[in-house]
Amino acid sequence: MLHIDFANCLEDRVAEHGLEEGFFDGNSPASAAATVATRKLAQTRGTGWERWRELTNDPMRGEHVRGVKAAVSACKQRNFENMVVLGIGGSALGNIAVQSALNSPTWNMMAGGKRNGPRLFVIDNVDPAYFGSIMDLCEANGGVEKTLFNVISKSGETAETAAQFMIIREMLKKRLGSAYGGNIVAVTDPAKGTMRKICDAEKFLTLPVPDGVGGRFSVLSPVGLFSAAMCGIDIDAMLEGAKDMDAACSREKMLENPAALLASMLVEMGTAKGKPNHVMMPYANNLYLLADWFRQLWAESLGKEKDTQGREVFAGFTPIKALGATDQHSQIQLYREGPNDKVIGLVAVEKFSREVEIPTGLGVDALQYLEGKKMGDLLNAERRATEYALVESLRPNFTITFPQVDEYHVGQFINLWQIATAYAGLLLGVDAYNQPAVETGKQATFGLMGRKGYEEHEKVVRETLQGTKWAWRG
Ligand code: PA5
Repeated sequence: MLHIDFANCLEDRVAEHGLEEGFFDGNSPASAAATVATRKLAQTRGTGWERWRELTNDPMRGEHVRGVKAAVSACKQRNFENMVVLGIGGSALGNIAVQSALNSPTWNMMAGGKRNGPRLFVIDNVDPAYFGSIMDLCEANGGVEKTLFNVISKSGETAETAAQFMIIREMLKKRLGSAYGGNIVAVTDPAKGTMRKICDAEKFLTLPVPDGVGGRFSVLSPVGLFSAAMCGIDIDAMLEGAKDMDAACSREKMLENPAALLASMLVEMGTAKGKPNHVMMPYANNLYLLADWFRQLWAESLGKEKDTQGREVFAGFTPIKALGATDQHSQIQLYREGPNDKVIGLVAVEKFSREVEIPTGLGVDALQYLEGKKMGDLLNAERRATEYALVESLRPNFTITFPQVDEYHVGQFINLWQIATAYAGLLLGVDAYNQPAVETGKQATFGLMGRKGYEEHEKVVRETLQGTKWAWRG
């Protein structure tokens, strides 16, 4: 199992910036609130927007794994050289994080025989230069004929994904004629929505984003499982890790339940202790993009103007990602001496997937201490040193440790934070599953791009942003 060391969040380490020991007492208000939340979540799990809690259990788990494996074996027969995921937000960040955590950073550069799957690109933007470059690369490596496109959109209405899809559909049609649909696997709502209609009409192979599974809670559904399995990742082990974490996060006592514990601490620090900035800082490059996935989960779920009673609360915390040891030479100066408004979550790895030894023999006194040491030991020493340095300047921090980075523990980490987010939503009294603030921008984009029915939005945007003298132009 992962483990969490939170001693550096206590008052005896970081004075008034930390929590009193009594906070963790079995009879404390925080413990009582956590228990109430656990009971509530036990009642709502598997219903409404909390169907994602059942992704690790049968029947959903079995159905998804069977569907994903069948799709993978069908696609493997085509020997695709490239796989391009088209999606954004919750339909992309999990895919990126899982691939980066569990496959080599040089995966796409490896020769075909060395990779247990196609090159993987996740295009989560409509930057034409970026999109064009990836298409060029696919073209130079087998061409679009040898490229599988995995379009992921629960709604099918998302402008970015829809635009990408329209481009690749046209491209494939020109090259493959009526067989073009064989290069597309769509992950979308099984019953409704714009993408569903397109898939039914064009007879694409589809996998489901089930009802009650929102984008940012969907990485353990076919949304994240299909690209992972295509790239040789053991999805059974990932789901098993997530399931074991779910069991731990169902315990009623706060100190025995890691999600309740993290959420209770971070909500208390973020509100009563004036620390609304939450840093995730892995000391491992392959975990860095899990911090990116966490940023969406924490920000979009908890950042809400109103609570569930409709009262203005302006809740939420700003998630920040950093990388150790790299950001010791960039961010740590601020974290130690700037405003004391952060809780820093370090992520450690006990045993790296490979080790590199620093050779002896340079013979320079000042660098003697490095001779014969392991690179992983240096990284872990730097993490311990950062922990110490943060405590020394009274900056609360905690460490989540991976015994090793594998599917089982990545599954645990994902579910730990998903469940912690559900707890934090309850403790803050906000709906963790909606994103009303994202709508205004979407509607304005529709207006600016000339979508029928959005003329009024276009007018308002233009009027609001019309040119003034307040600009500098060189
Ligand atoms: O977390 C979310 O719900 C969002 O980030 C969505 O995943 C994102 O907007 C993409 O939506 P869709 O899958 O409908 O294209």
